[in-house]
Amino acid sequence: MEHTPQWPAEMEELIRGFVDLRCRYQAALTEVKTKLDILNEEFRVRYSRNPIHHMESRIKAPASVAQKLARKGFAPTPENAVQQLKDIAGIRVVCAYREDVYTIAKLLTSQDDIRLLRTRDYIKEPKANGYRSLHLIVEIPVFLSTGKQYLPVEVQIRTIAMDFWASLEHRIRYKVEFQVPEDLNRELFDAAQRIAEVDEDMQRIHDRMVELANQSGVSSQPQPPQVDWEE
Ligand code: GTP
Ligand code: MG
Repeated sequence: MEHTPQWPAEMEELIRGFVDLRCRYQAALTEVKTKLDILNEEFRVRYSRNPIHHMESRIKAPASVAQKLARKGFAPTPENAVQQLKDIAGIRVVCAYREDVYTIAKLLTSQDDIRLLRTRDYIKEPKANGYRSLHLIVEIPVFLSTGKQYLPVEVQIRTIAMDFWASLEHRIRYKVEFQVPEDLNRELFDAAQRIAEVDEDMQRIHDRMVELANQSGVSSQPQPPQVDWEE
């Protein structure tokens, strides 16, 4: 006779809860990603360039959800995950230029079905280690058979240069068991400063080229609206 392994009933329910959670947050992620895809494509058609270089998205793994809940002193249940964590669904938007970061942020958060829950501008105020990025928590409605539900998505928007530093810094820091020594932390910080300067140079070169193209009359491209990002 074939033996079918059985989870205890509570375990079964917990697993079902997490599968359901994943499905709903995946829907929220798809909604946000689609909005960003649409903006990027519209820019290509209207302004002849893509402000978004690429995007990465992820749903937090159940083990990471459980770990983070434990750190905060909560039991690992789907209900606690929904109440306590705002980064179950996450999308990283890597832009060409620094100005694009704010343009994308503004165009996304001014859509009337999006609610902006939290902004952390680590570009204006970089973290002590040199980390730069614009972090938003937005809520987006997801329409399911059970009705409409607003779900949070963490959106990290940064330039290619900021992403280059953050990706390598993350690998350096998280792959080792021991603490990164102070002198190397200092070097990482200095590298972040130099990268930020290069970012500024690239923005200036880009702006200048747009100006020159317009003056030459050869290709007077319409330019995207200037946005003010103030939070
Ligand atoms: P978490 O509990 O980690 O989610 O932190 P938080 O809720 O205070 O959010 P915060 O906006 O500070 O950072 C959330 C995410 O940003 C992290 O999970 C990373 O993906 C990224 N991040 C923040 N700080 C750093 C950093 O110093 N280096 C790198 N590489 N990534 C960072
Ligand atoms: Mg996080």
